[in-house]
Amino acid sequence: QTLDQVSEDADLGDFEHYMLKEIFEQPQTLENAMRGRIDEDEATAKFGGLNLDPQQLRKIDRVVLTACGTSWHSGLVGEYLLEEFARIPTEVEYASELRYRNPPMSENTMIFAITQSGETADTLAAMRECKRKGHPTLAICNVVGSTIAREADGGIYLHAGPEVGVASTKAFTSQVMVLIQLALFLGRMRHLSYPAGRRIIDAIHQVPDQVRKCLECNDLVKEISQKYCNFNNFLYLGRLYNFPGALEGALKLKEISYIHAEGYPAAEMKHGPIALVDEETPSVFVVPRGQIYPKVMSNLEEVKARKGPVIAIACEGDRKIADIADDVIYVPDVDDFLQPLVTAIPLQLLSYHIAVQRGCNVDRPRNLAKSVTVE
Ligand code: G6P
Repeated sequence: QTLDQVSEDADLGDFEHYMLKEIFEQPQTLENAMRGRIDEDEATAKFGGLNLDPQQLRKIDRVVLTACGTSWHSGLVGEYLLEEFARIPTEVEYASELRYRNPPMSENTMIFAITQSGETADTLAAMRECKRKGHPTLAICNVVGSTIAREADGGIYLHAGPEVGVASTKAFTSQVMVLIQLALFLGRMRHLSYPAGRRIIDAIHQVPDQVRKCLECNDLVKEISQKYCNFNNFLYLGRLYNFPGALEGALKLKEISYIHAEGYPAAEMKHGPIALVDEETPSVFVVPRGQIYPKVMSNLEEVKARKGPVIAIACEGDRKIADIADDVIYVPDVDDFLQPLVTAIPLQLLSYHIAVQRGCNVDRPRNLAKSVTVE
């Protein structure tokens, strides 16, 4: 399908661009990613289309997630989730690399191809390569009936509806939501207790409303973007679950505003990127409260000491950060594993408004395609 064909079906409504519309759809698309998948009595998740029996699933001793672009970033969140909740060793591979490598993989390695379109050539090729070797190969996919969805042994649909904007937004958060439920499901087949499963379920039920709350920052983010739209280099920094979030924030800015942006684990910054910090290089710190909040704060102070402007994405009620950062965007205080979902909203909005300020074509950025069907 071309963008024109898709646009005919997807009404823009009151929104100026598809990207903005899709950002605002996220409370709903996150609900869709959960609908019918929570088993309240057993404190687990359930999926209709994995096509693997419980015995096969219990034997899985390694997971490989393969994808490109934004889907690769949700894969990184998935790695942290699967290792934390299910304690299954997990790797995330660029599909373009995996297709030509031959890494040793045990018989019980399960492959997940993560893809919005289900048509990305490299992801399809990596999936075929793994299938040929006999691994159970599943897909996490948005487009129903796409090539990857058809060729996979089974899988999970996002049910996010058509994503028209070339830069992926709602597909990212839906992928993360599906991966949370997958980690819960595989965890509950292993060591994860009933109360631990319940706590995860109670927390994810609140996400759509929390994301709705995040969207209230839109006007503030628009204001902030006016201040920063003329800078030409940005750093995006975060740790643990917010490291993939930082990578995704930087990718969004690159894709639609053509500004150079680098995502980094905040503490790794001292091994190189800190050399870039000056008055002309803003840093976006993804620093909600959590396990290592004080450590990220000290990374932030290192940037301020070098006169780098700082935009912080922080938790509601964090007064201290307002004294140190130049600008703060608040998000609800959520469990660490849910932070990539709430912080994605201001990061997407920031890149959107900066791109609009710069007069860029947000929905159809130069040189990029919605689905890359060539190698
Ligand atoms: C293209 C798109 C990206 C997307 C990537 C992977 O580069 O512009 O937004 O993340 O492909 O696409 P997929 O459909 O496989 O998730």
